[in-house]
Formats: sequence, structure tokens, C-alpha cells
Amino acid sequence: MSRCKLIAGNWKMNQGLSQAGALIKALKAELDSDKTCCSANCPELLVFPPFTSIAAVLPEAGGCLQVGAQNVHWAESGAYTGEVSAPMLKELGLSYALIGHSERRQYFGESDESANLRLRAALKAGLKAMLCIGETEEERQLGLTNCVLERQLRWGLSQVSAADMSRVVVAYEPVWAIGTGKTASEADAQAAHAFIRSLLAQLFCTDTAEKTRILYGGSMNAANAAGLLAQPDIDGGLIGGASLKPADFASIVRAAK
Ligand code: 13P
Repeated sequence: MSRCKLIAGNWKMNQGLSQAGALIKALKAELDSDKTCCSANCPELLVFPPFTSIAAVLPEAGGCLQVGAQNVHWAESGAYTGEVSAPMLKELGLSYALIGHSERRQYFGESDESANLRLRAALKAGLKAMLCIGETEEERQLGLTNCVLERQLRWGLSQVSAADMSRVVVAYEPVWAIGTGKTASEADAQAAHAFIRSLLAQLFCTDTAEKTRILYGGSMNAANAAGLLAQPDIDGGLIGGASLKPADFASIVRAAK
């Protein structure tokens, strides 16, 4: 099964409006200098700017470049101060919503249950959803990695139909690898991805599991991307720090070809 690779940059709470405009232009210039970077819209590229910078980035979208939101609320509207709904993101012209990032879980008390509500709201509004899962350092040391991944995946994808899975991407981000410079080894990452794919086959069917893209995130950079992306079950990357450096992000995109 050949899955088109997806390289996504999560800008987190970086790049205000003017910086974001400059960053996306610099990134496009890097990619345009290599015409083969994206042929037949593959690999797909995606960036998640902060909400206030979307206006600067969205006009640059098109072709293989899509834009997403870093979070979404599950209600369509209502008294939820500070939140943004899926229909609002869809109306803006965004393609994706990032769901259940470990920083949302760690700092804002998001749970598997709320990740599921957000994911289903995104799909209902016609967006694509990227569900983030991954174990902490402590969970890994206790041998709980697969147990945690299974819980997060089962909850996160609860009540999602096989048909809607065509609009879902899973991102495996071991929490201990995020922003630490400690990347999972190619073998460990591949093992986790293969496990996630086997779970998808159980939850849905083999065909759905084979078609669903599973991205790796956690200190992916220009130096380690090629090795990770060569693994059979690694279908792309969700990149934090290196996505803020146009030359590095473009190198990762080239590695995905
Ligand atoms: P880093 O690439 O900075 O480790 O961040 C990964 C991440 O959290 C992407 O969502």
C-alpha cells in the first residue's frame, strides 16, 4: 500500500502575524527552488499556525500546502470563552484540526474523552483531523507504551466510522521526544507505528488500517528525517522546532519524497 507522505509543521505558540507571513513565504521559496519537491500533490504539506496568524498563512495555501488549526472545541457555538468551533475553522477555509496534542493534555487538562469529542466535531464540520497520541517517559519506563497507545487510540477514535477514517491522520508523538532532542530510534518508532496500525485493523479493518497515515513526531529534524521516513509504517512527520526553520523543514520534505 503506498500512502502519500504528509509533512506537517506545528508552529505551537510561535510566529505572530507578520513573522508567520514571512515564514510561510520563506518556506515556499525554499520549496519552489526544488520543483520536484511536491509532484502530483505528494508529499502533502501542512502547517498549524497559531490562530491569530492564520490570516497571514492561508492566502499562501494551495497545491500541496494545507493549513490547519492547533485545536478545536466540540460545540458548534455557545458560552465557551476562549474557544473556537469546528464550523468557524471550516468557514475560514482551514483543512485540518490538530487534536489532543500532548501539550494540550499536559497543560490544559485535555483527556481522551475531550480529544474524541473534538475529533468528531472536526469531522462533522467537514475538516480533517490529526489525532496525537504518545506515552510519557515514565509510562515508557514502566513498560506501558502499548497500553497507553491503545487507550488513547480507542478513546480518541470511538464512534468514528470507517468511512470517516479517510479524513483522519494519527500522529505518534512520544512525549519524552518532544522538544528534547531525544528522537525515538528508527526501530522503536517503526515498532510503535506497526502496533498502531495493527490496532487500527482491529478497530476498523485491514483496508482502513493500510490506508490511514501514521506520522511520527518528536525532535524530527533534517538529519534524522530520512531514516525515520524510510520505515514502512511511518507516513510522515509532525514537526515542531524544525518547522520554524524553512531550510530544515524543506530538507524534511525532500526526505519524504
Ligand atoms: P519538536 O519537533 O520540537 O520535538 O515538537 C514535536 C511536536 O510536538 C509536534 O507537534
